[in-house]
Amino acid sequence: MADPIAALTNAQAARAEAATRVQAPTAAGMDVEQLSAFYGRFQALAEITLPIHPGAVTAVIGPSGCGKSTFIRCLNRLHELTPGARVTGSVRLEGVDIYQPGVDPARVRQLVGMVFQKPNPFPTLSIYDNVLAGVRLHRPRLSRAEADEIVERSLRAAALWDEVKDKLKAPGSSLSGGQQQRLCIARALAVEPLVLLMDEPTSALDPIATYRIEELIWELKQRYTIVIVTHNMQQAARIADYVAFLLAGEDRTGRLIEFDTAQRIFTNPKRKETEDYITGKIG
Ligand SMILES: Nc1ncnc2c1ncn2[C@@H]1O[C@H](COP(=O)(O)OP(=O)(O)OP(=O)(O)O)[C@@H](O)[C@H]1O
Ligand SMILES: [Mg+2]
Repeated sequence: MADPIAALTNAQAARAEAATRVQAPTAAGMDVEQLSAFYGRFQALAEITLPIHPGAVTAVIGPSGCGKSTFIRCLNRLHELTPGARVTGSVRLEGVDIYQPGVDPARVRQLVGMVFQKPNPFPTLSIYDNVLAGVRLHRPRLSRAEADEIVERSLRAAALWDEVKDKLKAPGSSLSGGQQQRLCIARALAVEPLVLLMDEPTSALDPIATYRIEELIWELKQRYTIVIVTHNMQQAARIADYVAFLLAGEDRTGRLIEFDTAQRIFTNPKRKETEDYITGKIG
């Protein structure tokens, strides 16, 4: 078969190349299969199997302690950084098992970025240097022009550029909580991930800052695959395309009770436990 790139005319090739430059990464899917997670002898998650669809928002919901944070930390190999913690099963990113021998966990964490509940910019680093913090780990010899370009692109993508472009040298801690969270999103985007994990990214924010992050998530899902943990059912209904509902049993081990489209989960869940949780009867 002819090489599809070679078959393009020069004009088409130029347009295609320009398009890849502005669109940045294409969204990637993940497949979680029979994933179990342990802290020492305690099993926090049992045999979770679900797809993470590319270019969509998947919300992970469930009562406190059911394993939501543990689950998303297994998606970029952060879980294993806890002493005694381990994982069984597989997590494939674009078909490649991130747990297979030879895979570099640092590379996985670059492709699958994470934003945490409490905005955690480096307080003494400038806004500019905060955005570059992750990039510099991989590319210590960045030119000034490249650095400027990455900072502007990432801050624009995180919907923060206009608010900070005149004070890039100010410390990260000089921003409001909502701005700090967008700075953390910019820092995660700067390394050009394929997937963005967010663990209750708005739970420390006021309603207006929360709304801005939700709007941003809407924009980001054009280019990134997003997995978000949230306790807020309204938020999940507003932003999620798919929902995974986890619940821990008497043994405190979290299991996947239901995975479906958000539409289905919020209007017609199959399982009674799901209905009880989303209507506020449990958790
Ligand atoms: N470092 C750890 N060592 C031992 N057990 C842990 C550790 N971190 C979490 N756990 C346990 O694993 C289970 C799942 O915790 P996890 O933090 O993933 O829950 P969660 O659903 O994110 O809860 P929350 O909604 O409160 O954030 C809980 O029983 C918790 O006590
Ligand atoms: Mg949690």
